[in-house]
Amino acid sequence: MLNQNIVLIGFRGAGKSTFGREMANQLGLPFADLDEEIEFVTGMSIPEYTERFGWQQFREVEQKVAHDFCRNFSGIVASGGGTIENSKNLQNLKKTGKFLFLNPAFRDVRKYLLKDTTRPRLNPDIPLAQEIDQAWDQRKGIYGATGDFEVVPDIKNEDVAGETKRIIEQIPTNVIPRVPQQKRVAIFSSSNGSTLEGLFEAQKRGRIPNVEFCLFVSDSKDAGAVAKAKELGIKDIEIIEPQKGEDKEDYDREIINLLREFKPDFILLAGWMRIFSKLYCDQFGDTTLNAHPSLLPKYSGMKDIEIHQQVLEYEDKYTGATIHRVIPEVDAGDIVVQRKVLVEEHDDVESLKEKVQKQEILGFCEYLEKR
Ligand code: GAR
Repeated sequence: MLNQNIVLIGFRGAGKSTFGREMANQLGLPFADLDEEIEFVTGMSIPEYTERFGWQQFREVEQKVAHDFCRNFSGIVASGGGTIENSKNLQNLKKTGKFLFLNPAFRDVRKYLLKDTTRPRLNPDIPLAQEIDQAWDQRKGIYGATGDFEVVPDIKNEDVAGETKRIIEQIPTNVIPRVPQQKRVAIFSSSNGSTLEGLFEAQKRGRIPNVEFCLFVSDSKDAGAVAKAKELGIKDIEIIEPQKGEDKEDYDREIINLLREFKPDFILLAGWMRIFSKLYCDQFGDTTLNAHPSLLPKYSGMKDIEIHQQVLEYEDKYTGATIHRVIPEVDAGDIVVQRKVLVEEHDDVESLKEKVQKQEILGFCEYLEKR
Protein backbone atom coordinates (compact mmCIF):
# COMPACT_ATOMS: atom_id res chain seq x y z
CA MET A 1 0.00 0.00 0.00
CA LEU A 2 1.50 3.36 -0.94
CA ASN A 3 -0.34 5.78 1.32
CA GLN A 4 0.21 4.29 4.70
CA ASN A 5 1.39 6.36 7.57
CA ILE A 6 2.36 5.79 11.13
CA VAL A 7 0.92 8.84 12.85
CA LEU A 8 2.45 9.70 16.21
CA ILE A 9 -0.08 11.10 18.62
CA GLY A 10 0.31 12.17 22.22
CA PHE A 11 0.58 15.14 24.52
CA ARG A 12 2.91 18.10 24.16
CA GLY A 13 6.41 17.04 25.16
CA ALA A 14 5.74 13.31 24.68
CA GLY A 15 8.53 13.13 22.09
CA LYS A 16 6.47 12.94 18.88
CA SER A 17 8.95 15.02 16.88
CA THR A 18 12.12 13.65 18.45
CA PHE A 19 11.19 9.97 18.31
CA GLY A 20 9.30 10.38 15.01
CA ARG A 21 12.34 11.85 13.26
CA GLU A 22 14.62 9.15 14.65
CA MET A 23 12.12 6.43 13.76
CA ALA A 24 12.02 7.65 10.16
CA ASN A 25 15.79 7.84 10.14
CA GLN A 26 16.22 4.28 11.41
CA LEU A 27 13.57 2.91 9.04
CA GLY A 28 14.69 4.93 5.98
CA LEU A 29 11.23 6.51 5.66
CA PRO A 30 10.08 10.05 4.89
CA PHE A 31 9.25 12.07 7.99
CA ALA A 32 6.81 14.94 8.37
CA ASP A 33 6.29 16.98 11.50
CA LEU A 34 2.92 18.67 11.05
CA ASP A 35 3.97 21.67 13.15
CA GLU A 36 7.12 22.16 11.08
CA GLU A 37 5.15 21.76 7.84
CA ILE A 38 2.71 24.44 9.03
CA GLU A 39 5.67 26.70 9.78
CA PHE A 40 7.05 26.03 6.31
CA VAL A 41 3.74 26.74 4.57
CA THR A 42 2.95 29.89 6.59
CA GLY A 43 6.54 31.15 6.71
CA MET A 44 6.12 31.84 10.46
CA SER A 45 6.80 30.07 13.72
CA ILE A 46 3.68 28.74 15.46
CA PRO A 47 3.93 31.14 18.44
CA GLU A 48 4.24 34.02 15.95
CA TYR A 49 1.32 32.74 13.89
CA THR A 50 -1.05 32.16 16.80
CA GLU A 51 -0.19 35.52 18.29
CA ARG A 52 -0.94 37.26 14.98
CA PHE A 53 -3.95 35.31 13.75
CA GLY A 54 -5.26 33.40 16.80
CA TRP A 55 -5.77 29.71 17.50
CA GLN A 56 -8.87 29.37 15.35
CA GLN A 57 -7.08 30.40 12.16
CA PHE A 58 -4.13 28.20 13.15
CA ARG A 59 -6.49 25.23 13.42
CA GLU A 60 -7.76 25.97 9.89
CA VAL A 61 -4.24 25.92 8.44
CA GLU A 62 -3.48 22.83 10.49
CA GLN A 63 -6.53 21.11 9.05
CA LYS A 64 -5.41 21.85 5.51
CA VAL A 65 -1.86 20.65 6.11
CA ALA A 66 -3.04 17.52 7.95
CA HIS A 67 -5.43 16.71 5.10
CA ASP A 68 -2.60 17.02 2.66
CA PHE A 69 -0.54 14.49 4.57
CA CYS A 70 -3.41 12.08 4.43
CA ARG A 71 -3.65 12.09 0.69
CA ASN A 72 -0.11 12.52 -0.39
CA PHE A 73 2.34 11.02 2.01
CA SER A 74 3.55 7.68 3.18
CA GLY A 75 5.89 7.64 6.12
CA ILE A 76 6.10 8.75 9.74
CA VAL A 77 3.95 11.73 10.69
CA ALA A 78 4.34 13.58 14.00
CA SER A 79 1.02 15.28 14.72
CA GLY A 80 0.76 18.41 16.83
CA GLY A 81 -0.44 17.94 20.42
CA GLY A 82 -3.91 19.27 19.56
CA THR A 83 -4.22 18.04 15.96
CA ILE A 84 -6.59 15.19 16.66
CA GLU A 85 -8.83 17.23 18.93
CA ASN A 86 -10.30 18.40 15.65
CA SER A 87 -12.64 15.61 14.53
CA LYS A 88 -11.99 16.22 10.83
CA ASN A 89 -8.24 15.83 11.35
CA LEU A 90 -8.86 12.72 13.37
CA GLN A 91 -11.06 11.13 10.69
CA ASN A 92 -8.76 12.10 7.85
CA LEU A 93 -5.58 10.93 9.52
CA LYS A 94 -7.23 7.71 10.69
CA LYS A 95 -7.96 6.72 7.09
CA THR A 96 -4.29 6.76 6.20
CA GLY A 97 -2.60 4.46 8.62
CA LYS A 98 -2.08 3.58 12.23
CA PHE A 99 -1.91 5.82 15.27
CA LEU A 100 0.99 5.27 17.61
CA PHE A 101 0.21 6.80 21.01
CA LEU A 102 3.38 7.97 22.73
CA ASN A 103 2.46 8.01 26.38
CA PRO A 104 5.42 8.66 28.67
CA ALA A 105 4.93 9.07 32.42
CA PHE A 106 2.88 12.26 32.81
CA ARG A 107 4.99 13.42 35.75
CA ASP A 108 8.07 13.49 33.44
CA VAL A 109 6.19 15.37 30.72
CA ARG A 110 4.82 17.87 33.22
CA LYS A 111 8.27 18.53 34.66
CA TYR A 112 9.70 19.01 31.18
CA LEU A 113 6.89 21.32 30.03
CA LEU A 114 7.16 23.52 33.10
CA LYS A 115 10.74 24.32 32.10
CA ASP A 116 10.05 24.73 28.37
CA THR A 117 9.42 28.36 27.46
CA THR A 118 9.39 27.89 23.68
CA ARG A 119 5.87 26.49 23.30
CA PRO A 120 2.88 28.74 22.54
CA ARG A 121 0.60 29.07 25.56
CA LEU A 122 -2.88 27.59 25.18
CA ASN A 123 -4.38 29.84 27.83
CA PRO A 124 -2.04 32.62 28.96
CA ASP A 125 -4.60 33.79 31.57
CA ILE A 126 -3.95 30.87 33.92
CA PRO A 127 -0.68 29.62 35.46
CA LEU A 128 1.32 27.23 33.24
CA ALA A 129 0.94 24.27 35.62
CA GLN A 130 -2.83 24.64 35.53
CA GLU A 131 -2.81 24.95 31.74
CA ILE A 132 -0.79 21.73 31.42
CA ASP A 133 -3.08 19.78 33.80
CA GLN A 134 -6.25 21.03 32.13
CA ALA A 135 -5.05 20.22 28.62
CA TRP A 136 -3.89 16.74 29.67
CA ASP A 137 -7.27 16.03 31.32
CA GLN A 138 -9.04 17.18 28.20
CA ARG A 139 -6.90 15.26 25.72
CA LYS A 140 -5.74 12.04 27.35
CA GLY A 141 -9.06 10.31 26.67
CA ILE A 142 -8.83 11.08 22.94
CA TYR A 143 -5.27 9.78 22.67
CA GLY A 144 -6.17 6.62 24.56
CA ALA A 145 -9.31 5.95 22.54
CA THR A 146 -7.81 6.58 19.12
CA GLY A 147 -4.32 5.07 19.43
CA ASP A 148 -3.86 1.72 17.66
CA PHE A 149 -0.73 1.04 19.70
CA GLU A 150 0.48 2.64 22.89
CA VAL A 151 4.12 2.82 23.88
CA VAL A 152 5.70 4.31 26.98
CA PRO A 153 8.93 6.03 25.98
CA ASP A 154 11.32 7.20 28.63
CA ILE A 155 11.73 10.87 27.78
CA LYS A 156 14.49 11.21 30.38
CA ASN A 157 16.66 8.73 28.48
CA GLU A 158 19.31 10.72 26.63
CA ASP A 159 19.98 7.81 24.28
CA VAL A 160 17.28 8.79 21.77
CA ALA A 161 18.46 6.24 19.18
CA GLY A 162 18.26 3.38 21.69
CA GLU A 163 14.88 4.50 23.02
CA THR A 164 13.58 4.77 19.44
CA LYS A 165 14.80 1.29 18.61
CA ARG A 166 12.74 0.02 21.53
CA ILE A 167 9.66 1.86 20.21
CA ILE A 168 10.09 0.40 16.72
CA GLU A 169 10.33 -3.11 18.14
CA GLN A 170 6.84 -2.68 19.54
CA ILE A 171 5.24 -1.87 16.16
CA PRO A 172 3.96 -4.82 14.10
CA THR A 173 6.11 -5.03 10.96
CA ASN A 174 3.10 -5.23 8.65
CA VAL A 175 2.08 -1.66 9.47
CA ILE A 176 5.47 -0.15 8.67
CA PRO A 177 5.21 1.79 5.38
CA ARG A 178 7.13 0.71 2.31
CA VAL A 179 10.58 2.27 2.05
CA PRO A 180 10.80 4.41 -1.12
CA GLN A 181 13.50 3.43 -3.61
CA GLN A 182 16.72 5.46 -3.79
CA LYS A 183 16.70 7.90 -6.71
CA ARG A 184 19.37 9.99 -8.39
CA VAL A 185 18.01 13.41 -9.20
CA ALA A 186 19.35 16.24 -11.38
CA ILE A 187 18.10 19.82 -10.96
CA PHE A 188 18.02 22.39 -13.77
CA SER A 189 17.54 26.08 -13.08
CA SER A 190 18.00 29.36 -14.96
CA SER A 191 16.74 31.53 -12.12
CA ASN A 192 17.28 32.44 -8.46
CA GLY A 193 17.08 28.91 -7.18
CA SER A 194 14.43 29.31 -4.48
CA THR A 195 12.81 25.99 -5.37
CA LEU A 196 16.21 24.30 -5.38
CA GLU A 197 16.95 25.71 -1.93
CA GLY A 198 13.52 24.66 -0.68
CA LEU A 199 14.10 21.07 -1.78
CA PHE A 200 17.26 20.89 0.30
CA GLU A 201 15.42 22.39 3.27
CA ALA A 202 12.65 19.83 2.84
CA GLN A 203 15.26 17.08 2.88
CA LYS A 204 16.67 18.47 6.12
CA ARG A 205 13.17 18.35 7.65
CA GLY A 206 12.89 14.66 6.75
CA ARG A 207 11.23 14.66 3.33
CA ILE A 208 12.63 12.84 0.26
CA PRO A 209 15.15 10.70 2.20
CA ASN A 210 15.34 8.56 -0.96
CA VAL A 211 16.79 11.34 -3.10
CA GLU A 212 20.42 12.02 -3.95
CA PHE A 213 20.92 15.27 -5.85
CA CYS A 214 23.63 14.16 -8.23
CA LEU A 215 23.81 17.01 -10.72
CA PHE A 216 22.92 20.68 -11.12
CA VAL A 217 22.66 22.35 -14.52
CA SER A 218 22.16 26.00 -15.43
CA ASP A 219 22.06 27.76 -18.78
CA SER A 220 23.52 30.93 -17.26
CA LYS A 221 26.61 31.38 -15.14
CA ASP A 222 24.98 34.46 -13.56
CA ALA A 223 21.85 32.69 -12.36
CA GLY A 224 21.43 32.95 -8.57
CA ALA A 225 20.76 29.21 -8.55
CA VAL A 226 24.42 28.51 -9.47
CA ALA A 227 25.72 30.12 -6.29
CA LYS A 228 23.03 28.33 -4.27
CA ALA A 229 23.92 24.97 -5.80
CA LYS A 230 27.55 25.57 -4.75
CA GLU A 231 26.54 26.59 -1.23
CA LEU A 232 24.34 23.53 -0.92
CA GLY A 233 27.28 21.34 -1.83
CA ILE A 234 25.93 19.70 -5.00
CA LYS A 235 28.94 17.78 -6.26
CA ASP A 236 28.54 18.28 -9.99
CA ILE A 237 27.60 21.70 -11.27
CA GLU A 238 27.49 22.19 -15.02
CA ILE A 239 26.91 25.50 -16.79
CA ILE A 240 25.90 25.08 -20.40
CA GLU A 241 25.26 28.47 -21.94
CA PRO A 242 23.65 28.60 -25.37
CA GLN A 243 25.91 29.94 -28.08
CA LYS A 244 24.92 32.72 -30.43
CA GLY A 245 22.72 31.38 -33.21
CA GLU A 246 22.87 27.81 -31.90
CA ASP A 247 19.73 25.86 -32.64
CA LYS A 248 17.64 24.25 -29.92
CA GLU A 249 18.54 20.69 -30.89
CA ASP A 250 22.26 21.37 -30.87
CA TYR A 251 22.01 22.84 -27.41
CA ASP A 252 19.97 19.87 -26.26
CA ARG A 253 22.60 17.45 -27.58
CA GLU A 254 25.01 18.83 -24.97
CA ILE A 255 22.43 18.23 -22.26
CA ILE A 256 21.61 14.75 -23.55
CA ASN A 257 25.28 13.76 -23.40
CA LEU A 258 25.54 15.03 -19.86
CA LEU A 259 22.47 13.11 -18.78
CA ARG A 260 23.78 9.94 -20.39
CA GLU A 261 26.93 10.34 -18.30
CA PHE A 262 25.19 11.05 -14.96
CA LYS A 263 22.19 8.77 -15.46
CA PRO A 264 19.74 10.53 -13.14
CA ASP A 265 16.41 8.80 -12.52
CA PHE A 266 14.64 12.16 -12.61
CA ILE A 267 15.41 15.63 -13.88
CA LEU A 268 13.63 18.46 -12.06
CA LEU A 269 13.15 21.78 -13.85
CA ALA A 270 13.02 24.31 -11.03
CA GLY A 271 12.87 27.72 -12.68
CA TRP A 272 14.30 26.45 -15.99
CA MET A 273 13.36 28.92 -18.71
CA ARG A 274 14.21 26.99 -21.90
CA ILE A 275 11.92 24.79 -23.96
CA PHE A 276 13.29 21.36 -24.82
CA SER A 277 13.30 19.99 -28.36
CA LYS A 278 11.54 16.83 -29.53
CA LEU A 279 14.95 15.16 -29.61
CA TYR A 280 15.32 15.72 -25.88
CA CYS A 281 11.71 14.96 -25.00
CA ASP A 282 11.74 11.65 -26.89
CA GLN A 283 14.56 10.46 -24.62
CA PHE A 284 13.99 12.20 -21.32
CA GLY A 285 10.45 13.67 -21.43
CA ASP A 286 8.99 10.97 -19.18
CA THR A 287 11.50 11.51 -16.41
CA THR A 288 11.79 15.29 -16.71
CA LEU A 289 9.41 17.15 -14.44
CA ASN A 290 8.75 20.83 -14.74
CA ALA A 291 7.39 23.01 -11.94
CA HIS A 292 4.99 25.59 -13.31
CA PRO A 293 3.68 28.30 -10.97
CA SER A 294 -0.01 28.07 -11.93
CA LEU A 295 -2.85 25.61 -12.03
CA LEU A 296 -2.23 24.46 -15.62
CA PRO A 297 -3.71 24.71 -18.19
CA LYS A 298 -4.33 28.17 -16.77
CA TYR A 299 -1.50 30.57 -17.61
CA SER A 300 0.43 28.08 -19.71
CA GLY A 301 3.22 29.61 -21.77
CA MET A 302 3.73 32.34 -19.19
CA LYS A 303 6.32 32.41 -16.48
CA ASP A 304 7.10 33.27 -12.89
CA ILE A 305 6.10 36.81 -11.76
CA GLU A 306 3.97 37.41 -14.92
CA ILE A 307 1.63 34.69 -13.72
CA HIS A 308 1.23 36.01 -10.19
CA GLN A 309 0.52 39.49 -11.59
CA GLN A 310 -2.26 38.07 -13.79
CA VAL A 311 -3.75 36.09 -10.91
CA LEU A 312 -4.05 39.29 -8.89
CA GLU A 313 -5.31 41.33 -11.84
CA TYR A 314 -8.06 38.80 -12.64
CA GLU A 315 -8.87 38.44 -8.93
CA ASP A 316 -8.58 34.64 -9.09
CA LYS A 317 -9.68 32.94 -5.88
CA TYR A 318 -7.12 30.19 -6.25
CA THR A 319 -3.77 29.74 -7.85
CA GLY A 320 -1.25 26.97 -7.33
CA ALA A 321 1.61 24.88 -8.60
CA THR A 322 1.70 22.16 -11.22
CA ILE A 323 4.33 19.48 -11.69
CA HIS A 324 4.15 18.00 -15.18
CA ARG A 325 6.15 15.86 -17.56
CA VAL A 326 7.86 17.58 -20.44
CA ILE A 327 6.89 17.47 -24.10
CA PRO A 328 7.96 19.84 -26.90
CA GLU A 329 4.71 21.85 -26.55
CA VAL A 330 5.12 24.41 -23.79
CA ASP A 331 3.61 23.49 -20.38
CA ALA A 332 1.47 20.78 -21.97
CA GLY A 333 2.87 17.45 -20.74
CA ASP A 334 1.00 15.07 -18.41
CA ILE A 335 0.24 16.60 -15.03
CA VAL A 336 1.56 14.44 -12.19
CA VAL A 337 0.85 16.69 -9.19
CA GLN A 338 -1.21 19.82 -8.77
CA ARG A 339 -1.48 21.78 -5.52
CA LYS A 340 -3.82 24.67 -4.82
CA VAL A 341 -3.08 27.94 -3.06
CA LEU A 342 -5.74 30.27 -1.74
CA VAL A 343 -5.36 33.88 -2.88
CA GLU A 344 -5.93 35.98 0.24
CA GLU A 345 -6.87 39.64 0.48
CA HIS A 346 -3.46 40.69 1.75
CA ASP A 347 -1.54 38.86 -1.02
CA ASP A 348 0.76 40.67 -3.42
CA VAL A 349 3.02 39.31 -6.18
CA GLU A 350 5.82 38.48 -3.74
CA SER A 351 3.66 36.68 -1.21
CA LEU A 352 1.92 34.69 -3.95
CA LYS A 353 5.24 33.69 -5.47
CA GLU A 354 6.42 32.51 -2.06
CA LYS A 355 3.28 30.52 -1.34
CA VAL A 356 3.20 28.93 -4.79
CA GLN A 357 6.88 28.02 -4.65
CA LYS A 358 6.33 26.19 -1.37
CA GLN A 359 3.71 24.10 -3.11
CA GLU A 360 6.14 23.41 -6.00
CA ILE A 361 8.61 22.08 -3.46
CA LEU A 362 5.99 19.94 -1.69
CA GLY A 363 4.74 18.77 -5.10
CA PHE A 364 8.20 17.54 -6.12
CA CYS A 365 8.58 15.81 -2.72
CA GLU A 366 5.20 14.15 -3.06
CA TYR A 367 6.06 12.78 -6.48
CA LEU A 368 9.57 11.58 -5.64
CA GLU A 369 8.62 9.86 -2.39
CA LYS A 370 6.08 7.74 -4.21
CA ARG A 371 8.49 6.37 -6.81
C1 GAR B 1 9.64 29.19 -10.05
O1 GAR B 1 8.48 29.46 -9.32
C2 GAR B 1 9.29 28.32 -11.21
O2 GAR B 1 8.16 27.57 -11.04
C3 GAR B 1 9.03 29.29 -12.29
O3 GAR B 1 9.98 30.31 -12.08
C4 GAR B 1 10.17 30.46 -10.69
C5 GAR B 1 11.63 30.73 -10.44
O4 GAR B 1 11.83 31.19 -9.16
N1 GAR B 1 9.16 28.66 -13.56
C6 GAR B 1 8.49 29.03 -14.64
O5 GAR B 1 7.77 29.99 -14.66
C7 GAR B 1 8.71 28.15 -15.85
N2 GAR B 1 7.70 28.40 -16.83
P1 GAR B 1 13.26 31.59 -8.56
O6 GAR B 1 13.86 32.61 -9.48
O7 GAR B 1 12.95 32.16 -7.22
O8 GAR B 1 14.07 30.34 -8.51
